[in-house]
Amino acid sequence: MRKKSALERAGEEGFALTYDDVRLRSGFSEMMPHEVNVCGRFSRNVDLKIPIVSAAMDTVTEHGMAIELAKLGGLGIVHKNLSSEKQAKEVAKVKLHLNGFIEKPVCVFESDDVKSILARMEEKGFDFQSFPVLNDNKELVGLLAGNDFEFCDDEKLLARDVMTTGILTAKKGVTIEAAYAIMKERKKKILPLVDDSNRVLGMYVFSDLKRIITGSNESYNVDENGRLRVGAAIGVGDSAVERAEKLVQKGVDVLVVDTAHGDSRAVYDTLRRLKDKFFGVDVVVGNVSNSDSVGRLIEAGADGIKVGQGPGSICTTRIVAGIGRPQLSAVYECAKIALEKGVPICADGGLKNSGDITIALAVGASCVMMGGMLAGTEESPGKTIFLDGRPWKIYRGMGSLGAMRGHVGSRERYNQIDENKLVPEGVEGKIAYKGELANIIFQYVGGLRSGMGYVGAKNLLELREKGDFDRISSSGLGESHPHDVSILKDAPNYRGK
Ligand code: IMP
Repeated sequence: MRKKSALERAGEEGFALTYDDVRLRSGFSEMMPHEVNVCGRFSRNVDLKIPIVSAAMDTVTEHGMAIELAKLGGLGIVHKNLSSEKQAKEVAKVKLHLNGFIEKPVCVFESDDVKSILARMEEKGFDFQSFPVLNDNKELVGLLAGNDFEFCDDEKLLARDVMTTGILTAKKGVTIEAAYAIMKERKKKILPLVDDSNRVLGMYVFSDLKRIITGSNESYNVDENGRLRVGAAIGVGDSAVERAEKLVQKGVDVLVVDTAHGDSRAVYDTLRRLKDKFFGVDVVVGNVSNSDSVGRLIEAGADGIKVGQGPGSICTTRIVAGIGRPQLSAVYECAKIALEKGVPICADGGLKNSGDITIALAVGASCVMMGGMLAGTEESPGKTIFLDGRPWKIYRGMGSLGAMRGHVGSRERYNQIDENKLVPEGVEGKIAYKGELANIIFQYVGGLRSGMGYVGAKNLLELREKGDFDRISSSGLGESHPHDVSILKDAPNYRGK
């Protein structure tokens, strides 16, 4: 990575800078913003189609945010202020949201009653409604689908009473294209694949095939089986390893050891245990802000590192504890070490506008994590409230009193044990309702593309290579924002200072 002059010089003088202290210089450019490639990485094996990850916070990421963000190419990290069972269920909802080829479809028996099937759907968090129905010999005898449940007005009825019979099947090995053609021709939404004894060996769902065949899933961030990717936060120690077990069973793509101080004994112990126990699952660790910590964590096996101590919009750590490092210098110093070892850095917290994304990636981050910039969207957890005639949603720190009271997950993040003697490191607030995530992300990625176009960078690697900065003064920052004008209309990508 090329030396970043303003950051290097500041570092030599013992200064640390953050987003508002710099702006990127423009450079010779041969490409249009829509031509740039914005793919990033969260961890060694978890790629991103857009370099945006949602924070593991209880007012930011549950399954709704994770599904929509993965569909837009990013990644959601489900928070841990939930029981391990509930968190695993949230992960399952994301993983089961789409399916290319369903290797092991969930089946029911013809003697199961509708009530027990509905209860199982609720308990396991299934948000699909199509089940092959089997007899006692495990042979396929019918199909239960949305309509069968809808037209059933007595939940005591058995699956065999309400299922559809005479269903269309195919043999295993049928190609996606052939399956799609058969289903289209026969107007069937479900195609179970069976062997010669009529045992179920897999299943195709028409909507998923259509997405794959028509290429309408190009933006989706999916795993090798065509399922949306999702991450989940855990703490440290035995309870974290137990929690991880449940999350891994549901197919979580990446575990995030989420603490306020990643360079601590309990984190290293937990990281090593996770890497020994869950072969093939990436583990991202955080948070840190110094390059020494990054070196140690990589040595201990981290697949990705989250950088950010104190930059968060709801964070009071720097004020309460006097600890932390202005975010841009932290990301720059940490990325210099991590990139040499092929480990991605996630710049976590402190972003206020889309331009900050470009800046974070130019100093070496492979993605950004956002709390405040994604809170207040339709997909973030919590209800919309109205105050003074305007819509808001709650956004709070995981180290705020409200989040730590009653949630061991939050207390653990800040090393606090006694629920009655809490020293908060975050605040609780409201944030203006922003509407649908897709529109918000469109603007954020649009800003990033534009920035990369100015720099003349066709991908993140070139942005890192070519991007250089000027350190700016407070008058420079004032000049950067709209000035000497009263704004009459809200812009979709600018909310003021
Ligand atoms: P934001 O994007 O600036 O709102 O920052 C979000 C980030 O702040 C999260 O991803 C966490 O790393 C961090 N964070 C979350 N809750 C707290 C807190 O209560 N105190 C300090 N940092 C927090």
